[in-house]
Amino acid sequence: MQTTKQWKVDLSISTEHPAILEAAELLQKEQVIAFPTETVYGLGANASNERAVSKIFEAKGRPSDNPLIVHVANAEQINHYVTTIPEVAKQLIEAFMPGPLTIILPSNGTIAQTVTAGLSTIAIRIPDHPVAQALLKATQLPLAAPSANRSGRPSPTTAAHVHNDLDGRIAGILDAGPTGVGVESTVVDCTSEVPTILRPGGITLEQLEQVVGAVNVDPALLEGQLQPKSPGMKYNHYQPEVPLWLIDGDEVFMQSEIDKAKKQGNKVGAIISNELAQFVSADHVRVCGSRQNLSEVAVHLYDALRAFHKSDVDIIFCETFPQTGIGQAIMNRLTKAATSIIKQ
Ligand code: TXA
Ligand code: MG
Repeated sequence: MQTTKQWKVDLSISTEHPAILEAAELLQKEQVIAFPTETVYGLGANASNERAVSKIFEAKGRPSDNPLIVHVANAEQINHYVTTIPEVAKQLIEAFMPGPLTIILPSNGTIAQTVTAGLSTIAIRIPDHPVAQALLKATQLPLAAPSANRSGRPSPTTAAHVHNDLDGRIAGILDAGPTGVGVESTVVDCTSEVPTILRPGGITLEQLEQVVGAVNVDPALLEGQLQPKSPGMKYNHYQPEVPLWLIDGDEVFMQSEIDKAKKQGNKVGAIISNELAQFVSADHVRVCGSRQNLSEVAVHLYDALRAFHKSDVDIIFCETFPQTGIGQAIMNRLTKAATSIIKQ
């Protein structure tokens, strides 16, 4: 166990802020620091240092064959870590970075081997968050940073989520309040001729297509039984404390499933939209936003998954969402988090 420092900071922070200087110094000393990005909180370490990176895997309990995203301050720095930047990647960088996009490029091998898990490619992202930016500029280091949760748990969108999972296991947490997007970055493989989405996220398929034309989606995302190309996609993920079931149907169907489970002696939690809220009752209800505004649902999704505890409920039922726009990322995460889906 170590003491985990917590610094409350605001969004107007500069690189000279004492919290940033202290966090930067700890990162230089091979320590691990959680920091906010626009998507979720990340768990950062010096990506050029094997010992520092290994502490991320240790703190999270993360399998070592699951590579990490390297965070850099600006587009120019990407050149230091790759052999080439294909034209399509240049277009994506120009359009979406900084922002919730991660691109996979051919690695030039300068980053620690543990970061790329021995792959010949590297995942790179430029976070669009003032605290992440201040930290990157103050350290002048590339920061390897997965989401700052214990492996298998929902990603953290607040410092409290990070604290619950990692207190005593990391050197510090920079707390700048809840994150903006709520789901992680979109991971796009730019090493193939047509760029391929390996993980849906904050930048939508539609947005990518507008900039580069054709975009493929990793078939493993559509057919769950295939081996996904992104190593992290095959593990259990995003799981709440109690089983989560997806209910694919209207409000009457949702209520009848809740009532059935209650009759069997279960305490039932429900994660539902504003639209269903007036029709559905359960032992604990979490309303996560409007079906008309899926960005709002994304913002509240992980907090909702973390809101239910064994002491309160035996099972959670959650409605399904349309797979358009950011709905693809929402349904990707919910499908991974769920133990089953019941269709009307
Ligand atoms: O929004 C985000 O991307 C957050 C914040 C903290 O930046 N980070 C994040 O990292 O979600 P993580 O480690 O939870 O997810 C990284 C994903 C994993 O699915 C991993 O397998 C994939 O990116 N990945 C990393 N390097 C890769 C590579 N070279 N080829 C294919 N997939 C890769
Ligand atoms: Mg993660």
